[in-house]
Amino acid sequence: MIVPLEWDSAHFGFPIARVEPGNLPLTDLESDLGEASRAGLRLIYCLRPLDQTIPEKTLVRFGGRTLTASVLYRKGLEGDRKERRDELTIETLRDVPLSDDLRRLAPSIGLYSRFRLDPDIPKEAFVRMYEIWIERSLKGEIAEQVLVARGADGTTLGIVTVVRPDPQTGRIGLVGVTEAARGQGVGGALVAAAEAAMEAGGAIWAEVATQLENDAGRALYESLGYEPGTPERAHHFWLEPTQ
Ligand SMILES: CC(C)(COP(=O)(O)OP(=O)(O)OC[C@H]1O[C@@H](n2cnc3c(N)ncnc32)[C@H](O)[C@@H]1OP(=O)(O)O)[C@@H](O)C(=O)NCCC(=O)NCCS
Repeated sequence: MIVPLEWDSAHFGFPIARVEPGNLPLTDLESDLGEASRAGLRLIYCLRPLDQTIPEKTLVRFGGRTLTASVLYRKGLEGDRKERRDELTIETLRDVPLSDDLRRLAPSIGLYSRFRLDPDIPKEAFVRMYEIWIERSLKGEIAEQVLVARGADGTTLGIVTVVRPDPQTGRIGLVGVTEAARGQGVGGALVAAAEAAMEAGGAIWAEVATQLENDAGRALYESLGYEPGTPERAHHFWLEPTQ
């Protein structure tokens, strides 16, 4: 099934959709891609289990590109949380404009994003996507909470957003730490603060998606007791307009 994506189409400026479910048989995938092409769609996302590789022939026929693999990490929220670093302050932000320091941080949050790794996505559109993600989170449109870590001198060191996919589950929307502050416990403190916020809101599960290729992201979640789900490989199909 082809599901048109309104926001993505408006943001990137051409018609985009995703194929659902990503694990459908290859013949059905090919038939959906053919239909999408005839319908004038330009870009199709497909997230597919790692063991269901798409043959080169199909990739070539439909302008397909194999990108990163994403994995959903999950953990129960009961139990102790890691100690925070004393010199860090975690602040909640709401209804404030995007500050320069958060704007600078935005692109590095998407270091392993399929939108950064696909050479056909213009860099400015990728960067703007992450800026908008933070802006809309700050407005409460796509996140319940935005937490920012500040150093002793007030410098912004990192950000995490909390989303609520269902009443029992809290999800981390995005998390990122400035390059200079990485490897010093800031990411761990932000995720712990996000978990505390989820629990205060009644959640019993925490989730976060990252990429298999993101060693730092995976190490962060695994160090906090998250368990990985089944990874899915992202594909972008760049369809040629049909006459
Ligand atoms: C992922 C990220 C948020 C981690 O933040 P951080 O402040 O560096 O993480 P911490 O210092 O709290 O480290 C947390 C754990 O991960 C481990 N870790 C951190 N960076 C690592 C790396 N590059 N390689 C391996 N392990 C790493 C730490 O050793 C620590 O484990 P421990 O508690 O068992 O010692 C940071 O690297 C980042 O902003 N990356 C770019 C954005 C990104 O990828 N975000 C995640 C998208 S899902």
